[in-house]
Amino acid sequence: MRSNLDNIMEMNAEEHLNVLINLSEEIFHDFKNTLATISGLSQVTACYAVPPEVKENLERIKEASLECRDQIDRFYSFVKGYNVDTMQYEVLSNIVFSALDMVKHRLHKFDKANNGIALNVNIQSVKKVYCNEYKMRQAILNIIMNAIDAIEETGRSGILKLNLYDNMAIKEVVLEVIDTGVGIPEDKLERIFEANYTTKGKKGTGLGLKVSKNVFEACGGRIEVASKVGEGSKFTIYLPTESC
Ligand SMILES: Nc1ncnc2c1ncn2[C@@H]1O[C@H](COP(=O)(O)OP(=O)(O)OP(=O)(O)O)[C@@H](O)[C@H]1O
Ligand SMILES: [Mg+2]
Repeated sequence: MRSNLDNIMEMNAEEHLNVLINLSEEIFHDFKNTLATISGLSQVTACYAVPPEVKENLERIKEASLECRDQIDRFYSFVKGYNVDTMQYEVLSNIVFSALDMVKHRLHKFDKANNGIALNVNIQSVKKVYCNEYKMRQAILNIIMNAIDAIEETGRSGILKLNLYDNMAIKEVVLEVIDTGVGIPEDKLERIFEANYTTKGKKGTGLGLKVSKNVFEACGGRIEVASKVGEGSKFTIYLPTESC
């Protein structure tokens, strides 16, 4: 009797891929339905008179399930043969706004403890940057989340400031992420970009800044940091933009 393995062994690469694609299609489809149920029910439940903390958690469940769905979409595109690394011109301010949307709940949560994080956003650029949208969002998100972590670590209220502007003299768009967090000791300023360097124990992998730096550099950009312990940090990202 022939086994499944025998059948698979006789397939050529293309047939093999088609079997995988068909199988993934079914899994992705079921998974997306389940996620839609999770996000839908969390939205509906949030409409009831539930305590604010429950509402917040429901909002987080919804966001996490939407993010999960996006990841499945990307993985599916990859399986289908599309290139997830596709780069194209993207308006950077849109990516910054969507990254901010993903961390809003953390600012909100901190408000509750009466140690609010004031968000000060100053977007003066609508220029496009040649990048992979997903990777760029994740890279910016990591810088913003680090800033929030650093403010929370002070145990006091703080300010998170984002400035986005053009420097057309050198055809660059500049993003500044400024926080009033704990700051970084001078002798650690180089190390923060190394893999596995983290001061967050089990909560951090220490990969965020290394990956972010790689993403900016892959777009022809760079990242700089200035910081003072007890005062806060400023991360500046320079990215080449279109000339028009
Ligand atoms: N804005 C900041 N203020 C103070 N320290 C910072 C800031 N950004 C980064 N750091 C320091 O740099 C370290 C490395 O940051 P990185 O983003 O690479 O990893 P992580 O945040 O610890 O973990 P994760 O991999 O989950 O991002 C942090 O653990 C922290 O010590
Ligand atoms: Mg990080």
